[in-house]
Amino acid sequence: MNVLLLEKIHSIAARSLRAQGLQITTVNKSLAGDELLKATRTVVALGIRSKTRVTAEVISNAKDLLSVTCFCIGSDQVDMDACTERGIVVFNAPYSNTRSVSELTLGHIIMLMRGVIDSNAAMHQGTWKKSANHSNEVRGKTLGIVGYGHIGSQISILAEALGMEVLFYDIRESLALGNARRVRSLKELLKLSDVVTLHVPDTAATRMMIGPAELRAMKKGSVLINTSRGKVVKIDALKDALLKKHLRGAAIDVFPNEPGSNGPGWDCPLRGFPNVILTPHIAGSTMEAQREIGASASAKLTRFLTEGTTTGSLNFPQMELPPLERRHRIIHVHKNVPGVISHIGSVLKRHKINIEGQHLETTDKLGYLVTDIDHPVKGGLLQDLTATPNTIRVRVLY
Ligand code: NAI
Repeated sequence: MNVLLLEKIHSIAARSLRAQGLQITTVNKSLAGDELLKATRTVVALGIRSKTRVTAEVISNAKDLLSVTCFCIGSDQVDMDACTERGIVVFNAPYSNTRSVSELTLGHIIMLMRGVIDSNAAMHQGTWKKSANHSNEVRGKTLGIVGYGHIGSQISILAEALGMEVLFYDIRESLALGNARRVRSLKELLKLSDVVTLHVPDTAATRMMIGPAELRAMKKGSVLINTSRGKVVKIDALKDALLKKHLRGAAIDVFPNEPGSNGPGWDCPLRGFPNVILTPHIAGSTMEAQREIGASASAKLTRFLTEGTTTGSLNFPQMELPPLERRHRIIHVHKNVPGVISHIGSVLKRHKINIEGQHLETTDKLGYLVTDIDHPVKGGLLQDLTATPNTIRVRVLY
């Protein structure tokens, strides 16, 4: 089975897929147009990062394609509907950079509380400015976390280890870790925290969730960190709060408009502030996160190709399957409409198939039926299953 990995995916992915006997081709850049169509014509799996656009044309051209695996967090670059219609599973690697974001956030908090950005700039300009003024330990300070998901809760643990008091606000019920305390409203969190850090997704409710009123509600002399999504903070309002010295400082890693490629010409109203850390959306970008993405996405792909497991997929019913041991497995992907299962049942009966195990999971659009049998598939069974109305794809694992 041929697998194509584009865009310099971490080498651990190719290594682990090769160990499964798969034929791996790696290309260190993204492909597009005819180059991509040609390269994907005979592959069973395509691995990409964020730059390769997997369009409906690519999908319909890649006749053998079983999976598109995004070795990154996002999956907007893939035409998900086209994949679902063709019975192609899509995976990604969320949460592989949770620790990286958490560590940088803590780094930002300490740098801001100690005024390091300002001292560093002064030193580079040849000025020695030793002072304890406006320099504080984080121990005993209150950290307010907005969004207590994977990253927010990881930061909660690390911040407590540094002696911070942790408060959090989340719209979802979630277990408070360690001594962290949930607060009832964003306003309460803003009022009580020395440091506010944002870890929410980009939704209609979070867009511009930190504007002039919220910044005014923050404690005087507190700091704001945003490593979540650019549209969560109103940048002009933050600039105002900094100019008025209501906030001690801020660290911003994500911006409402981020350029598509590296290079000069970037601008933002927060440039030039001595107490603001600006980073180019790198909170999650570490070698460790890249390795973890490579390992976790290739593990999902391997289990899908060798066992049919779909756990963690973005468009298929979730199914956790045991490894194949002295069995043969028929995977039937179909439209989720009435009558398909009984039709398949009658085909299996007609072929006198002894079923050892059978599992069905569905989404709105798809049905995923896995049938384990004790004998190899033969005698036209595959053709008959493929001819069953509403079948999208049939795959046999030996
Ligand atoms: P997650 O999905 O695990 O957690 C998000 C949390 O926010 C959830 O608990 C959710 O209930 C909560 N939430 C949603 N809407 C809310 C609202 N209106 N008010 C309060 N809480 C709300 O996500 P994860 O992995 O923790 O990521 C958090 C953010 O970090 C995401 O926006 C993600 O895109 C961003 N991120 C940024 C990176 C970077 O390099 N700067 C890298 C990785 C993630």
